[in-house]
This record gives sequence, structure tokens and C-alpha cells, in this order.
Amino acid sequence: MMKNRFRVNPPIVQSAIAGIANNDFCQQMLDFDAGMVILGGYSIDYANIQATQQVIERGRKEFLTPFEVEELKKWSENNLFLRKKNTQQIIAANVRLIKIDEISKLWLSLLVEKVDFIELNVHCRQKEILEIGGGQDIVQELKILENLLQTLHTILEPEKLGIKLRGITIKNRDKLVDLLETFEIQFLHIDAMIPGENKSDIQLINDFAKSTNIPIIGNNSVISIENVKEMLKAGAVAASLARPLIDDPKLMLKLTKQLEGKKYEY
Ligand SMILES: Cc1cc2nc3c(=O)[nH]c(=O)nc-3n(C[C@H](O)[C@H](O)[C@H](O)COP(=O)(O)O)c2cc1C
Repeated sequence: MMKNRFRVNPPIVQSAIAGIANNDFCQQMLDFDAGMVILGGYSIDYANIQATQQVIERGRKEFLTPFEVEELKKWSENNLFLRKKNTQQIIAANVRLIKIDEISKLWLSLLVEKVDFIELNVHCRQKEILEIGGGQDIVQELKILENLLQTLHTILEPEKLGIKLRGITIKNRDKLVDLLETFEIQFLHIDAMIPGENKSDIQLINDFAKSTNIPIIGNNSVISIENVKEMLKAGAVAASLARPLIDDPKLMLKLTKQLEGKKYEY
């Protein structure tokens, strides 16, 4: 495997928040000095778009984007135009995808132009998305994930792709990381949720960090600089947060200010 240079500086990431993390929201996070922002999640193939329509119909906030070619091109001009404060900042887009079809091909070609990384979402657990075999179900059968990555490999540079997953859904960590290393996945974004608790499973982050050279972004229940440091100490290269930023976007600024001028040990 080639040496992976993925680093986040400062090591704080705004995680995807469907229906909320749009261009304006992520721009604010960049302005607050986030090391990395993640747009979306967006549903980018027909099956996921249709499933997302159903999710919206039952009242959940989601992004519904055009699925007609010219409209999507126009949408991308108006909705994917983030400005970095410095060249170190990283922009990614989180995508729900099970199949390369006409619309997802277009999406991917637009995204490679406009963002640094595409984050494949194998994390979603909305029932409509699971019913089409998407979200976290993709990672339940490694053969399915492998086929998807294989197809993506034929149309995307490997250095463009990261993956977002939920730690508790992983049955065989070693097999999974072998597969991700084979496909030169650039970062592994792990939601280390502990069901029913408001803290993350730091041991799980540490177990992943010990089992792979793929840089890890540790996620769940990060609300303070101490939580960020815990993630780094466990072996992550950065910590990410989502829910705390919905009510208090300025928390990003508060956290990044506390790391100003500091060097991070990985
Ligand atoms: C309203 C909402 C929407 C979300 N949408 C996405 C999404 O589209 N893609 C994704 O990978 N994660 C999504 N997440 C998960 C978050 O990115 C994050 O992994 C999770 O909320 C745990 O981190 P936190 O404790 O900092 O909120 C969403 C979370 C919330 C609360």
C-alpha cells in the first residue's frame, strides 16, 4: 500500500448532516477554521434518491437534489462552491450510493471537480435506505462492498475516496480493513457510538487504529477539546462532530481556537 498522506489540520471535522450541512452551513464551518468539512449526505443514484423521497415524506429532513441532468449541473453550480480560508482545509461530500447509473456517474464527475474527497456512506440506517440494500447494509456483506468499490475504482481516482461507517455494525474488522487497504481508501470515518449512551467507544477507535494504516476520523459525542484529544490519543488523526453543531455552530470556532498554534501528535 502506498503511504497515505491524509492529515487534517486542525484535526477537527464537521461530519455530514443530511438536510442541514449544505453549502452555507459548511462555509460557516470553514470560516470557523474547521480542518475538514463534509457536505451532505446526498443520495446520488436513482434507487437512493427514490428512497430519500420516502424518508422526506415521513417527515425527516433530507437533501433532495435534481435527478435530471441539466438541472443537476445547474444545482451543482449553485450548491457546491465552498471557499477555503487556507489550502490545508479539506472539503468532502458524503454520498449514498449502491449503483453506478446515469445520475450517479454525473454526480461523481461533478464532485471530483468540486471537492477533495468523496465519502462513501455505509453508515445510514434509515429503513427506506436499508430496504434497497443501501447505507449500513452495504458493509454487512463484504462482497457487496467489494463490488461497489471495484466499480468506483474504474471511474474514480483511489486518492479521492474515503468511507464512513458505524463501528458497531462491523463483524470482522480485519477482513474489512484488508479490503479497504486493497482499494487504497484514504480515510476511515468511524462513528463509535455506544447504543443508549452519550459517549463514544474510544477502545473501538483504538482497535481500528492498531489494525490499519488508513487514517481514522473518530466520531460520536465529541463536544469538548478533551474529547478531541481522547480521539487523537486513541490513534485517530482527527475527531468529527455533527449534532452539537446543529444547535451551536460556533462550537467549531471555540474548539479550533483552543488548538490554535498547537502541534498534534499522531
Ligand atoms: C440529522 C442528522 C443527519 C445526519 N446525516 C448524515 C448523513 O447524511 N451521512 C452520514 O454519514 N452521517 C449522517 N449523520 C451522522 C453524523 O454525521 C454523525 O456520525 C452522528 O450524528 C454522530 O456524531 P455526533 O455525536 O457528533 O452527532 C447525521 C446525523 C444527524 C443527527
